[in-house]
Amino acid sequence: MDLPNQLRVSLEREVRGHDGAALAREAARLSAQYRGEAAATVAPHPVTALAYAVTRMPATFAATAAALNALASGLPEFAPRTLLDVGAGTGAALWAATGGWPSLETAALLEHDPLMRALGQRLAAAGAGAVAKARWLPADLRGPWQAPSHDLVTAAYVLGELSAAAQTALVARLWTLTDGALVLVEPGTPQGWATIRAAREQLRAAGAFIVAPCPHGELCPLPADPSADWCHFAQRITRTKAHRAAKGAKLGYEDEKYAYTAVARSPGNPVGARVLRHPVTRPGRVELQLCTGDGLCRRLVTRSERERWRVAHALQWGDGMALGALGSQVSEL
Ligand SMILES: C[S@@+](CC[C@H](N)C(=O)[O-])C[C@H]1O[C@@H](n2cnc3c(N)ncnc32)[C@H](O)[C@@H]1O
Repeated sequence: MDLPNQLRVSLEREVRGHDGAALAREAARLSAQYRGEAAATVAPHPVTALAYAVTRMPATFAATAAALNALASGLPEFAPRTLLDVGAGTGAALWAATGGWPSLETAALLEHDPLMRALGQRLAAAGAGAVAKARWLPADLRGPWQAPSHDLVTAAYVLGELSAAAQTALVARLWTLTDGALVLVEPGTPQGWATIRAAREQLRAAGAFIVAPCPHGELCPLPADPSADWCHFAQRITRTKAHRAAKGAKLGYEDEKYAYTAVARSPGNPVGARVLRHPVTRPGRVELQLCTGDGLCRRLVTRSERERWRVAHALQWGDGMALGALGSQVSEL
């Protein structure tokens, strides 16, 4: 996946004129902060927002775009006209949603950090339609804030920054503001998945229809302890020149691991089964770990199965498939 061209150009323009060494130092500090090795900045600085936009926004854009693609596949008739994104940062979800749905006409973005908002707004000015016209609004998601309901509501990489009680309150609030679909995205860590799993259960109890990634709307069959096993996926994103420079990175891409849930007011067409891990390929056989409507299962497909072999061989981690595409012989995990 690539960043939208207008966003990439706009980011490069922002980086020009900045001290590359200071940006690299701030990028390193942000990485350490995300790994829990450094304290959060006490007084945020414009270079913090720029380091975030250059080094993290491409990955959060890619993860959010992948989650929204899964929603679009499971809800093909959905053509949202209005978007509400909370904890918007520098606007990753705005770019991801408008890339997926040209039907979007207006977007409201809530973000409490004025430096993130200002940078996001400057980046979005290079976009078209709903991106350029988006309204960037100050709001503390822990306090009282007002917003009308929207067709599509998103919260990407923000729940994890709130206390457990604030997460529960925010998920409930977001669902009341959702006319069509709600998508929550978090890092693909055990902690990120625990946050998504709790939100999924909360939304299920509130009557939401699960559209993706799950092939069912039942209780998640994975163990409750996320350190034992957790549901997450990976999305590859091309690194920009500025990103490689700021991180001193040699590879031209990175793989962002993420967890998500996409729910809706109306039932969608969830996949029949989803591949939960990298398929294990050996000569003449592919082994798949799947989540299905009947729970978790392992499916071994051999070359002699011809058509199923062709299907299985093309499948990748995170892919969905129709029920029965691999036959019904499965073993429970
Ligand atoms: C990790 S960033 C994610 C930004 C963006 N959603 C993305 O995917 O790139 C988390 C964002 O949530 C914002 N945030 C955290 N707590 C917040 C709060 N209580 N109210 C509003 N925004 C908040 C932060 O300022 C930051 O911009």
